[in-house]
Amino acid sequence: MTTTSLLTARPGIALKGAVRAPGDKSISHRSLILGAMATGITKIEGLLEGEDILATARAVEAFGATVTRLGAAHWQVDGRGGLTSPDQVIDCGNAGTGVRLLMGAAAGYLITATFDGDASLRKRPMKRVTGPLAQMGVRFDWQTREDRLPVTLSGGSLTGIDYAQTVASAQIKSAILLAGLNASGTTTVLEPEKSRDHTERMLRAFGAEVEVESVGDGWRVSLLGGQTLTGTAVSVPGDPSSAAFPLAAGLIVPGAEVTVEGVMLNPLRTGLLDTWAEMGAELTITNRRSSGGEEVGDITARHSRLRGIVVPERRAASMIDEYPILAATAAFAEGSTIMRGIGEMRVKESDRIALMAAGLTACGVQVEEEPEGFTVTGGPVAGGATVTTHGDHRIAMSHLILGLAAQAAVNVDEPGMIATSFPDFVQMMQGLGADMEAA
Ligand code: S3P
Repeated sequence: MTTTSLLTARPGIALKGAVRAPGDKSISHRSLILGAMATGITKIEGLLEGEDILATARAVEAFGATVTRLGAAHWQVDGRGGLTSPDQVIDCGNAGTGVRLLMGAAAGYLITATFDGDASLRKRPMKRVTGPLAQMGVRFDWQTREDRLPVTLSGGSLTGIDYAQTVASAQIKSAILLAGLNASGTTTVLEPEKSRDHTERMLRAFGAEVEVESVGDGWRVSLLGGQTLTGTAVSVPGDPSSAAFPLAAGLIVPGAEVTVEGVMLNPLRTGLLDTWAEMGAELTITNRRSSGGEEVGDITARHSRLRGIVVPERRAASMIDEYPILAATAAFAEGSTIMRGIGEMRVKESDRIALMAAGLTACGVQVEEEPEGFTVTGGPVAGGATVTTHGDHRIAMSHLILGLAAQAAVNVDEPGMIATSFPDFVQMMQGLGADMEAA
């Protein structure tokens, strides 16, 4: 989806209130995909109804599952215990997680499927997933050029592999594990650092056995092929990556106090909270509880005097999607915030290092870009710019939050893309008092 209109965020209002985090995007994708691979009914509560997830819901239907929306954020998947060849091209829209996990899921069945996506997804590398899947026995026919969508997959008759990842990537790990479920022998993924473990946790909830062993800073994850999944109930916790936006506004808007309720606190997703705490952020977590196999809590952010820090590179995997909003908050900190070891940001929905550097610079912020990172130095944030987002939802939301605390309004283009991960973003921010509307 693309739009040509602009969205504006204006400064001047102290935000106050409590909101509920939307469902976690990673867990939402997985619940639909595992539900389709399983036998029987999977009931999902709290599903994120963003465009990325709706694309995955359509995809699993095309692969033979029956998907029903029972009510708001309440969905049901009737799985057939396997995927069948779809009649149409599987269009994953903007979703890297959707396409990569679906390729892994489809890999183990004797089926043929063509995967495609929007202009952004067509630019993103796919061999990181198709490479190991090909080693397991999948055939890939690239339709236009190698490593880029569209691609046709022919699956079935897989052999388990022992795969050592060079970067920590939950998408690659998950694709290999999902394929491994239907491979002969054992499939093992070794990660240099721990990436989010939602697939491992959910596979267990669907009845599979997954072994995990710590190795240095990372871990080795293995499963035996030939295991079957049984439908189950999934309760999707609030997305920490989405919660980061209203919380950031709480930290940088003078006089603000914002609470986001029901945020997942999985330690592999909370690197931003640790980083903000080191920067002097006033954050409090209350009402810690367990929901859907994850710890969740309510997080309150108050306007804080932030100071720049060096963000530990080891933390990157636990906050890779949060660097754009971290960079926006760093613009209001005293001193420099140095973010390195994050070359992966260049192959997300956009080149997020380049776009954050360009957008912040346009807003009067001092930024130094490096091949694998950037440094943001705080100071007066002029704003008063129109930021190019290249259709990247997190680039758009980061600059809109910045605009709420800048000296002059900030506009972003293609605001419709925010719905990929956070369809209620504008409404939620308006509910907190934010001056945000179509320009
Ligand atoms: C995700 C993993 C991360 C993250 C993405 C969601 C997932 O990507 O950036 O938004 O749900 O597995 P990588 O695994 O490529 O780092």
